[in-house]
Amino acid sequence: MTQKITVIRGDGIGPEIMDATLFVLDQLKTGLEYEDADAGLVALEKHGDLMPAVTLESIARNKVALKSPLTTPVGGGFTSINVSLRRHFDLYANVRPAHTFPNTKSRFENVDLITVRENTEGAYLAEGQEVSADGETAFSGTRITRKGSERIVRYAFELAKSTGRKKVTAVHKANIIKSTSGLFLAVAREVAAQYPDIEFQEMIVDNACMQLVMRPEQFDIIVTTNLFGDIISDLCAGLVGGLGLAPGANIGKDAAIFEAVHGTAPDIAGQGKANPCALLLAAAQMLDHVGQPENAERLRKAIVATLEAKDSLTGDLGGTGNTMGFAKAIASRL
Ligand code: NAI
Ligand code: MG
Repeated sequence: MTQKITVIRGDGIGPEIMDATLFVLDQLKTGLEYEDADAGLVALEKHGDLMPAVTLESIARNKVALKSPLTTPVGGGFTSINVSLRRHFDLYANVRPAHTFPNTKSRFENVDLITVRENTEGAYLAEGQEVSADGETAFSGTRITRKGSERIVRYAFELAKSTGRKKVTAVHKANIIKSTSGLFLAVAREVAAQYPDIEFQEMIVDNACMQLVMRPEQFDIIVTTNLFGDIISDLCAGLVGGLGLAPGANIGKDAAIFEAVHGTAPDIAGQGKANPCALLLAAAQMLDHVGQPENAERLRKAIVATLEAKDSLTGDLGGTGNTMGFAKAIASRL
């Protein structure tokens, strides 16, 4: 049976990087079929809804989506489309690899780590948000569950096992936030005990940030709660040359959505200037997920070879190439 994936072309540079990515995927002969679905501003204009029910149904049916960035209009009380997608499909694991690539603005030679961020609870619930009438005091709640911590730490260890990685570092602040971060750390220790072949390390989040910018090569897989993961994964993207090369997967039990970490880049939209690599690397994560690891590896190698040759690179990487030209240079090295 052919696997169908939902394709969301998105807003801003979204359609350009998606065209480039699908062009490369076609050359890989993945056999994947695409089902187009609208979301974001495009969908608001066409269907009167940022995330139409038909799009949610498409993702639910296919269980896998490749998604370009979306604009959530500021004002008008819209909740972030990305946050609501994660909630709707319970996409509890946000998996963001960071590797050093050749000829990028990275300060480091040998970063090769994956951040596994809990994606559904913690500070992002922002429960009971309140500002006192006099505006002097504000409150926002954080909730951590055993179930949520267990499944994310287990995901990190299973990822280590399946990819041959050797170490999992749990990043926390249990020394200060004893309740929530304490529960996360306690559960992380319990789960770690079930994986004796994989090294387990604990690190307090502030120290982790310093260690990351001093000696990032010491990290393999980092697992952490929602807000720490948000910050740390952006920090890691910075270690390897920025947003143009940062992919992310949002994975749940019943669905997975693969995307670039960057936004819609309105400043360069429609000009063919966007770097398609982040979405291409997300597509490689997707190929791993759908059981095509050889194709995923071919794609990653072709990207590395193209960067090495400085062939048709886009402006963010110091080149003068355009989005589709870059994609064609990558496709020619598959
Ligand atoms: P952004 O990531 O869109 O842009 C930041 C800077 O990076 C800009 O200078 C942009 O030109 C550059 N950039 C981003 N991606 C690039 C690429 N592939 N190639 C070359 N340069 C690239 O972040 P910003 O400006 O904060 O957000 C713009 C819009 O994107 C907002 O409406 C925001 O809500 C949305 N957004 C959507 C996300 C998603 O759907 N996953 C994630 C982040 C932002
Ligand atoms: Mg973020």
